[in-house]
Amino acid sequence: MTDFEALRRRFPVLARKTYLNSGSYCALADSVRAAINAYMDDRLEVGANWDVWVAKNEAVRRATAAVLHAAPDEIAITASASAGLNALASALDFGGPRNRVVVSDFEFPTSAQIWHAQEPRGARVVHVPRDAHGDIPLEHFARAIDTGTRLVAVTQVCFRNGARLDIEGIVRLAHARGALVLLDCYQAVGGLDVDVRRLDVDFAVGGMLKYLLGTAGIGFLYVRGALIRELTPTHSGWFAQEDIFAMDISANRPAPSARRFEAGTPAVVNCYAAEAGLALILEVGTQAIEARVRSLTRRCLEALEGIGWASVTPAADARRGPMVCVPARAAAQLLDALLAQDIVVSVRDDNIRAGVHFYNSDEDIDRFVAALAACRDRHHPGVRAAVPSA
Ligand SMILES: Cc1ncc(COP(=O)(O)O)c(C=O)c1O
Repeated sequence: MTDFEALRRRFPVLARKTYLNSGSYCALADSVRAAINAYMDDRLEVGANWDVWVAKNEAVRRATAAVLHAAPDEIAITASASAGLNALASALDFGGPRNRVVVSDFEFPTSAQIWHAQEPRGARVVHVPRDAHGDIPLEHFARAIDTGTRLVAVTQVCFRNGARLDIEGIVRLAHARGALVLLDCYQAVGGLDVDVRRLDVDFAVGGMLKYLLGTAGIGFLYVRGALIRELTPTHSGWFAQEDIFAMDISANRPAPSARRFEAGTPAVVNCYAAEAGLALILEVGTQAIEARVRSLTRRCLEALEGIGWASVTPAADARRGPMVCVPARAAAQLLDALLAQDIVVSVRDDNIRAGVHFYNSDEDIDRFVAALAACRDRHHPGVRAAVPSA
């Protein structure tokens, strides 16, 4: 049995705050802080410890692969999820009849904007809409994906409402019509067990600052092994070359691995932080984390039901990410009121978003729901706006 109480003590902020903000930025673990300090010490003592730094990038690649159930050669370590998307986009051809990119209404802005940015190169972006209940059923994807579709680019978990798309179903539809699938798993990976092989996706992007316990400024792109050599990114650089240190200016010779999607010098300090965060995820285990997060989000949904405050996050376990989103009146003010009580959450649309990780406890959930119950007169969405007197 995992000792989650002992694990909680590795996140000092939890002694002071009810931290439910992993969908924005994770709580800082003692080991991640120590790793960043080790980098600083290294700079003071050694200066440019180049070999150690490059080895860190490789360590992050291996750990990312382990988390995603992929091979290290299938992972590019990038400066952000956006950087991975741009590198991939640069390698796709939109000049022929297969020029459509299907995105969903649940996408994070960057994951639609980058595909729209390919329109001058011939891409046509198709948006899959929600239904009247705010869901995106598989039938909507079935209508949008056709034999002119090059790529289906979908988020696993919607950052606005915590809904989880039926990725297996979408992949089946896409592959049957000859389209590739890119998964944006940023709001899932680290909080759920994301297995790129089981999901059968062709590409996946994400980053380290949310559920992967690392820091900003570092992300990843997974590329299915069999596709790597078919794709030559024009977004490139010396760290994308077969031999980084050949220092050859006469040609572009992309690495045979997914490293061809990288660009310049790795963000070294971020590699230190990311390596420590990933190590902690692997130590706890992605399946144990998913089970813990599922039970905490379920407790939250049930408690919300108990106070008559419905969430917009789906109740079915298979359709829910590692968060619970609660619609609120004057959500920004509610956020401040919660912060004043040391309850850290975020706001997306008019929802209070509570990102839940393995380091949260039943008490965190109960405290959050009790704080909502205490201000329902002002913030429950059913409360009528005060009508200004004439
Ligand atoms: C689902 C999702 N995709 C992509 C991004 C963007 O990531 P980056 O800033 O690393 O490009 C975010 C950031 O919050 C996100 O939540």
